[in-house]
Amino acid sequence: MNLDVLKAQFIAQYGPGECELFHAPGRVNLIGEHTDYNGGYVLPAALSLGTYGAVRKRQDRQLRFASTKFGSVPVELSLDAVIYNREHEWVNSLLGIVDEFLKLGAELSGIDVLLVGDLPASAGLSSSASVSLLMGVMLNELFSCQQPMVELVKLAQRAENQFVGVNCGIMDQFSIGMGKKDKAMLLDCRTLDYRYIPIVLQTHSLVISNTNSSRRLADSEYNERRAKCEAVAHLLGVEFLCDLTVEKFEAEAHRITDPTTLKRVQHVIYENQRTIEAAQYLEQGELIAFGRLMNDSHISLRDLYEVTGPALDALVEAAWAQEGVLGSRMTGAGFGGCTVSLVENAHIETFIERVGQQYQEKTGLEASFYIANIGDGARRVE
Ligand code: GLA
Repeated sequence: MNLDVLKAQFIAQYGPGECELFHAPGRVNLIGEHTDYNGGYVLPAALSLGTYGAVRKRQDRQLRFASTKFGSVPVELSLDAVIYNREHEWVNSLLGIVDEFLKLGAELSGIDVLLVGDLPASAGLSSSASVSLLMGVMLNELFSCQQPMVELVKLAQRAENQFVGVNCGIMDQFSIGMGKKDKAMLLDCRTLDYRYIPIVLQTHSLVISNTNSSRRLADSEYNERRAKCEAVAHLLGVEFLCDLTVEKFEAEAHRITDPTTLKRVQHVIYENQRTIEAAQYLEQGELIAFGRLMNDSHISLRDLYEVTGPALDALVEAAWAQEGVLGSRMTGAGFGGCTVSLVENAHIETFIERVGQQYQEKTGLEASFYIANIGDGARRVE
C-alpha cells in the first residue's frame, strides 16, 4: 500500500490537513479450527494483507467513516448515539470498539476515518477482526488510552460478541493484535498463554486459495455448533470441552448419546491434540508430518464437524491431487471462504493453474490465489 496515496484519498474525502496512519492484518489459521471457543489451542499467523486506516481527530463529537474497500456509502453519526444498525454493515465493527472505549471511560472526540485494504472480505481471513483491531489501536493511540495490546484483543472480541452479535472465540482478534512477522502463534485460548513459532518452510510456501463462494448460513451454523459444544461441556462437568484429554474424553464418550453431537465433540478433542502436535512439527521443521495433520484436520472438519461444504471440499481435494503439496485444509469458520495449502515453491505455478481449473470444472466458480506472507500485528505505520 502506498501511504501517500492513502493520505491523498483521505484528503479527497475529508479535506486538507494532517492524518495518522495505521495497519491491521488479516489472519490465516494453520490448524486448530473451532477449538478456540472450546478452550483449546489454535495455531494462527497474521498476514501481510490487511486493512489500512487514516484518521484525524475532530473538534466536535461527530464520527465519520468512509472506505474505498467495501464499496459502501460513508456513515456519519454522533459519539452520543453509538448503536448497532444493520444497515451500517462493516461500520458496526468499528462502532463496537468505540462503544467499548466509552465503557472504559475514555474521553473521545469525534474522528474522521478512511479505511482501505487488500484483504478479501467475507473470505474467512478475518476482515472484520482486522477492522476492529485497527480501530482499537487508532483510538488507543489517538486518545492516549494506554491499553496493552492484549486488552485491545479482549475488548475487540467483546465488541464482536456483544455489539455485533457474533459469538466468535478469541483467535482472530488475538492473532491480528499479537501477530509477528514470519511467526505463527500457538495460543492456549483458555489461559491466553502463547508461544511464537518461526514459520520456516524451507523450499515451501503457504498458498491461500479463495473459493469465492458466499458464506451463507455461516453465523447461524457457527452459533449452533458453539452452543452444542457448550451443552456437552456442561453435561460432562467441565468448563470447556478442551479441558478433556483424549483419554478422558474416550472414557466419557458413551454419555453422549446423540451421534451427531458425538461427531462434533470428537472433532474438537482430536483437533486440539493435532494442533499441539502440529506446532511441534513446525518447530522441528518436519513439514511432511505437519502437512499430514493439515489434511487430517480438513477431513475432520468435513466429516465430523461438517463445516466445509462443496466449494471448500472441491478446492482442498484439487490441492491434494497436485504434485508438491504437503497439506491442504480449510481455514477459519468454514462454509465457504479460503483454504491454506503447503506447496513446494517449484510447483506453485502449476498448482495455481491446475487447482483453479479443476475447481472451476467441479463448481463453476473461479478461485483466487495468494501466497501468504506472514506479517506483523496491528500498529501505527506513520
Ligand atoms: C471464526 C471465529 C474464530 C474461530 C474460527 C474457527 O474465524 O471468529 O473465533 O472460532 O471461526 O476456528
